Amino acid sequence: MNIKPLSLVLGAEVSGIDLSKILTDKQLAEIESAQDEFEVLFFRDQDLTPAAQQALAEQFGELLEYPYVEGYKEAPYLVQIAKMEEDKVNFGGLWHTDSTYLERPPALTILYAREIPPLGGDTLFASMTRAYETLSPGMQKLLGGLTAVFSAEHGGGYAVREFRQNKNLDQAPEQAVHPVIRRHPRSGKLALFVNAAHTVRFSDMTEEESAPILEYLHHHQQRPEFSYRFQWQVGSLAMWDNRTTHHNPLNDYHGYKRVMSRVMTRGEVPVGVGQK
Ligand code: SIN
Repeated sequence: MNIKPLSLVLGAEVSGIDLSKILTDKQLAEIESAQDEFEVLFFRDQDLTPAAQQALAEQFGELLEYPYVEGYKEAPYLVQIAKMEEDKVNFGGLWHTDSTYLERPPALTILYAREIPPLGGDTLFASMTRAYETLSPGMQKLLGGLTAVFSAEHGGGYAVREFRQNKNLDQAPEQAVHPVIRRHPRSGKLALFVNAAHTVRFSDMTEEESAPILEYLHHHQQRPEFSYRFQWQVGSLAMWDNRTTHHNPLNDYHGYKRVMSRVMTRGEVPVGVGQK
């Protein structure tokens, strides 16, 4: 297995591994260690049926059911993320971290490219550990003591979700409270955990009071120098850690089809700076 860093902030390409085969303990440990170091890993030229993609994810942890889209029949934890030729809206088309409105948001997301437009449809990934490190000590201290409210309904999240086959939209939107600065359970790295798609306000503050600081943080976390832009090919697979990154799939390929499949593992209840 070869691991090649792709930028100075995050992202590495892993080659010399067939993800359709059950991984050895050594391979799993190497991938997890690379994940902690590089935060998002990319694999090329993989050949995965839906069942094989789900089986791959299962080796990294308990699977998480995505509440808003039906899974594949043969792989119920896997959902299709598609934009068709006639669609104008893409799924998740804004900076976000996956499903942070859940009490135990996903640890890992594994996204696999099945059909790709001739050009366009890249995904931006950004390091939230770098976003945290580059805040002033005063801001780090202030944020370290805060929690925030996250909602599935906030920030256009509903608008950019897979609307053709939505489920559970008649129920109250999922909501959770999480630390603003999150400690990674394995690496201990601290990451800025708010995101423009799902963070509504700081706990015990109004939306109006929270807005100026949240606006600043979203501006900060979206700075281009924290990001890496990945160009997909059919058979590419990305594995990202939702505890340390956020991402933004670009919607620049109207008239073309893009079909991906996604599976997530369940994370732990997020832990803040001073908690264990
Ligand atoms: C997602 O936000 O989970 C999908 C990302 C993508 O389609 O590139």
